[in-house]
Amino acid sequence: MDVELINIHKRFGKVHANNGISLTVKSGTVQGILGENGAGKSTLMKILSGFIQADSGDILLDGKKVTIHSPADSVKLGIGMLHQDPQDFPPMKVVDNLIIGSPMGLFPDRKKIIREFEELQKQFNFSISPETYVDTLTVGERQQLEILRLLWLGAEVLILDEPTTGISASQKDLLFATIRKLAAQGKAILFVSHKLDEVEALCSQVVVFRQGINMGSMTPPYQTDKLVEMMFGKSIVRSENVCEKQEDKSFEIEELRIDDVRLAIRDVNFCIQKGEVIGLAGMEGSGQALILRALAGILRPTGGHIYMIEGADGGRIDLAGKHYFTYRDHGIHFLPAARLEEGLIQGLSLAEHFALAEEQTGFMVDRDQVENLSKKRITDFNIHGTPESRIEELSGGNQQRAELALMRDPLRLLLLEHPTRGLDIESAMYIWGKLKQRCEDGASIVFISSDLDEVIHYSDRILVFYGGKVSPAFEASSVTIDMLGQLIGGKGWS
Ligand SMILES: Nc1ncnc2c1ncn2[C@@H]1O[C@H](COP(=O)(O)OP(=O)(O)OP(=O)(O)O)[C@@H](O)[C@H]1O
Ligand SMILES: [Mg+2]
Repeated sequence: MDVELINIHKRFGKVHANNGISLTVKSGTVQGILGENGAGKSTLMKILSGFIQADSGDILLDGKKVTIHSPADSVKLGIGMLHQDPQDFPPMKVVDNLIIGSPMGLFPDRKKIIREFEELQKQFNFSISPETYVDTLTVGERQQLEILRLLWLGAEVLILDEPTTGISASQKDLLFATIRKLAAQGKAILFVSHKLDEVEALCSQVVVFRQGINMGSMTPPYQTDKLVEMMFGKSIVRSENVCEKQEDKSFEIEELRIDDVRLAIRDVNFCIQKGEVIGLAGMEGSGQALILRALAGILRPTGGHIYMIEGADGGRIDLAGKHYFTYRDHGIHFLPAARLEEGLIQGLSLAEHFALAEEQTGFMVDRDQVENLSKKRITDFNIHGTPESRIEELSGGNQQRAELALMRDPLRLLLLEHPTRGLDIESAMYIWGKLKQRCEDGASIVFISSDLDEVIHYSDRILVFYGGKVSPAFEASSVTIDMLGQLIGGKGWS
């Protein structure tokens, strides 16, 4: 099905999120959509999929004008959208997630649905059990489920909004194979991303948005520097990685053990220097997220020690087994990847978030103080929003900045899960600049990222995880992407 968007306008208050955007996507092609944070990508996709309505403009399917008032309308017309944040029901079973969104009436034929689901799965080499509960699936699997659900509902146009954030490398390969297959079947695909290499690998044509305007399009062979210039209006050079590591231990992890339902991690030993950045690399579910949560005091280790070094004489406090508040009060801060589920609270404004995240100094919140603090943080972290903006009104990248802006001062250890997920290149560099400033002040950072470039570029040392095993710490300067890739995939372990 061919999709045509003509002169779409959408305003949110003062923000002109879509300013006269036109775009045509032909059946059987993959259309890439690039643009910096807040450029209006998700807004246009939500208009096409009926989650919001345009102020003006036309939508044509196969040349016929349509009106889309709701997601149900768009599904009926054959449009399916995979959102930036999963839209499923985690406490329910996979098959029930299918049934609940289907127009099957009161007595759906469960067996038939399962059969159809399995047939679809086979086409794409997915292997999700229909009777399993959604909250036990990985992010990548939840995404596969959502794709299958949309196809099962008859989607001919598929919108994918930043589908590769938070999934493992192998899940990404599978996703790309799936997208190619769907295009070959004649579906029209809209692929929103910040990642130039992905867009270049996958898309038959790319369009760039900036501040709500369509800046132009490109077809292969792609010129990366041109695309970057179209996105930001200038070319970008990544700054040198400056090492702030000091010869001063801040933490010592000894014989740490973690037992999770799916994974056992044994006898992990490493130290964290002051000012150091340690990157944790590995496929999703290899144990790095568990270590991060243990260091944050959210997950209780089953053995071993997390020593914090106090003072010059090397006195140590063992934090293992202590309450999360103890960790927090010692300047340990955790930033989760699931920003809308764990990191932020939907329905609350930015100002309310800042008020809650600060240390409580009484029973009352000082409105003026919070207002000032909010304004300062919003400027500091370059958040596109006001103190009154509710969290869900911000674009994905701005939510990420908001999460980073909630960090207290001073900090000793920062634990970050995908800190630049969903950020465009410029914002990611800006945020890392901020983080490195913390290191200058003596804070240490341990972070997870599925972007190996980011791990190598910003870490001083790197630990690789594979099936609960942890490598010795490598100096980042001596590591190549290829070598990391092999270790992550389970090769080269003794
Ligand atoms: N519901 C809303 N209420 C108010 N403003 C909104 C709303 N949704 C989006 N906006 C604003 O519209 C602009 C475009 O947002 P959009 O989500 O389309 O950006 P995006 O290109 O998807 O960015 P990102 O890469 O960060 O996800 C932003 O300035 C955003 O704050
Ligand atoms: Mg978006």
